Amino acid sequence: MGFRKDFLWGGAIAACQAEGAYDVDGKSLTFPDIIKHISPEERKTFSQAIVTEETIKQGKEGPVSDYPKRWGIDFYHTYKEDIKLFAEMGFKVFRFSISLARIFPTLDEKDPNEKALLYYDDVINECLKYHIEPLVTIAHFDPPILIWEKYGGWSNRHMIDVFVKYATCLFRRYKDKVKYWVTFNEINMMTKAPFKTVAMIAGEGKEYEDKRWTAVHNQFVASAKSVFEAKKINPNFVIGCMIADITTYPYSSDPDDVLANFKKDHMLNLAFLDVMVKGYYPYYFKNYLKVHGIDVKMQAEDADVIAKGVVDFVGASYYMSIVTADDPNGKAITGGNMTGGLRNEKIKTVTDWGWQIDPVGLRIAVNELYDRYEKPIFILENGIGAIEELENGTVHDTYRIEYLKSHLKELKKAADDGCDIIGYTWWGPIDLVSSGTSEMSKRYGFIYVDQDDDGNGTKKRYPKDSFYWYKELIATNGENL
Ligand code: BG6
Repeated sequence: MGFRKDFLWGGAIAACQAEGAYDVDGKSLTFPDIIKHISPEERKTFSQAIVTEETIKQGKEGPVSDYPKRWGIDFYHTYKEDIKLFAEMGFKVFRFSISLARIFPTLDEKDPNEKALLYYDDVINECLKYHIEPLVTIAHFDPPILIWEKYGGWSNRHMIDVFVKYATCLFRRYKDKVKYWVTFNEINMMTKAPFKTVAMIAGEGKEYEDKRWTAVHNQFVASAKSVFEAKKINPNFVIGCMIADITTYPYSSDPDDVLANFKKDHMLNLAFLDVMVKGYYPYYFKNYLKVHGIDVKMQAEDADVIAKGVVDFVGASYYMSIVTADDPNGKAITGGNMTGGLRNEKIKTVTDWGWQIDPVGLRIAVNELYDRYEKPIFILENGIGAIEELENGTVHDTYRIEYLKSHLKELKKAADDGCDIIGYTWWGPIDLVSSGTSEMSKRYGFIYVDQDDDGNGTKKRYPKDSFYWYKELIATNGENL
């Protein structure tokens, strides 16, 4: 069987990690704009929940040179050259995000910022020129700081209106140009990094928890309303949701570990999809809120909106897996995509950042999601960050090819298992600033960007060995895996 004939092969990036141009054409300041570069030493104690009022204050006053996402890889100005390279690899799809801070910089403008829209018009037209499907993520980890300062984060229902206005503006503008959309990137990461998802700074206690879960509820409603509005504008739009899928296994066959793992999978991964794909809060989600004494401010009409605005496909990123034990005390831990977990002794290889490399976990994840929802699955991110240096104009990234090959073999097996998988977008096809630690030296690309953590370098682009491997893979639709 293998991959569908119309399989969407491509790559994914996010505005806040690639565009740079942080204050150009009217853009307002976002949370990623105020996250400093985290050095390997600092990484050991760094928490994703670290943003405080002080971080914001420092960010506003501090020198631009402290904040790598402000310059990204200058994609705002290099998109033509970069998309040309994606086309050379044969991309069928290119996933990128649009920045709310560019389109409605103060959130409450009546009309969108035309200059910013013209930029995105150009990016989309450039994709279409090469017959690449643009896949737009409407919100990818870059909430304007004003969401916090004006409204105290997404717990304020006003954000539903702001988002629907913004999404609808994009749906109308790109009605005939963009078919594939994702409303929120990795919506489940509100549990780990609320500043980049629901625009809330660090906090604790009941009031904070009530707000955090109300915030994600408001995102469920905003997504559902947007899907509903989108279909009125173009019934052929294909709209998805997305989680960071952290596949988790029981630590042992002890029934208590199996049960703990079952519950972990629910609240780490599945709860968010259940609401957006099935259209209602499942029993265990309602129970979790009740048991933890969390009051989510819902309105009477929300259930109906969530039921009506379900998505067309299930999107997930997949980087790694963890194990879960009933009693985690004293057990070895592993690093990870925003969230680590317990170390799996059966997994021998980890990335330079300690993320466990587990290709079979991808097959398991896809089967689990397809089994549960029976809707098309889109792997929206998968990739490996590594420390690399340019050697005679290229990088011999055999480990990246190995990572890619092993994961795609498992994805193909998932297709052979009967799962309907519509696409795969590698994270990130070109080196960019890392989300978690604002490092440029954590490189994911098939294309090397000559720039260091401080923004020094020529910014020239160089294809790595993996560039040619992926090109061949796309040309043969993965048949030779
Ligand atoms: C995902 C995000 O969580 O992981 C991306 O959607 C991010 O934005 C990717 O870049 C990898 O994480 P990091 O921290 O290595 O950039």
